[in-house]
Amino acid sequence: MGPETLEWTPDLETGVADVDDAHCELLGLYNRIVFACEKDGAVGTFRERMRTFLIYARWHFAEEEALMRRLHYPDYMDHKGHHQRLLQDAEDFLESFGDSLRLEDNSAIASYLMYWLTRHLNDKDGSLRNFLITKNTASTLASVRN
Ligand SMILES: [Fe+2]
Ligand SMILES: [Fe+2]
Repeated sequence: MGPETLEWTPDLETGVADVDDAHCELLGLYNRIVFACEKDGAVGTFRERMRTFLIYARWHFAEEEALMRRLHYPDYMDHKGHHQRLLQDAEDFLESFGDSLRLEDNSAIASYLMYWLTRHLNDKDGSLRNFLITKNTASTLASVRN
């Protein structure tokens, strides 16, 4: 069985529009990789979509890290480490196949991305989401009091 597409669900919402938009976009770009495994099957298309995904992920991670630094997020270093590992592992994984990337390899890479995305969005970004929601509630309460 090949990798599955991932859908955005409201429980992933952080309340920060830029982060939510970026997560939606990331899932969309991941789904395009899955479609490249199933339908087109062209190795060129797969590689191109992987590159687009990784470029976007790198950009999103930098934005998310800047937000965490601004808010003095306590788990910043660990979260940033996860981001760096994904980029490094995905690039190494892709690289390791060299020019001989086959259809089965595409599915293996996409499955790894699915596993990482699901885990990261629920776990690391989930903790960040809880922190942002608490912070938002606190600042809303503070502005009501003032
Ligand atoms: Fe993250
Ligand atoms: Fe994120």
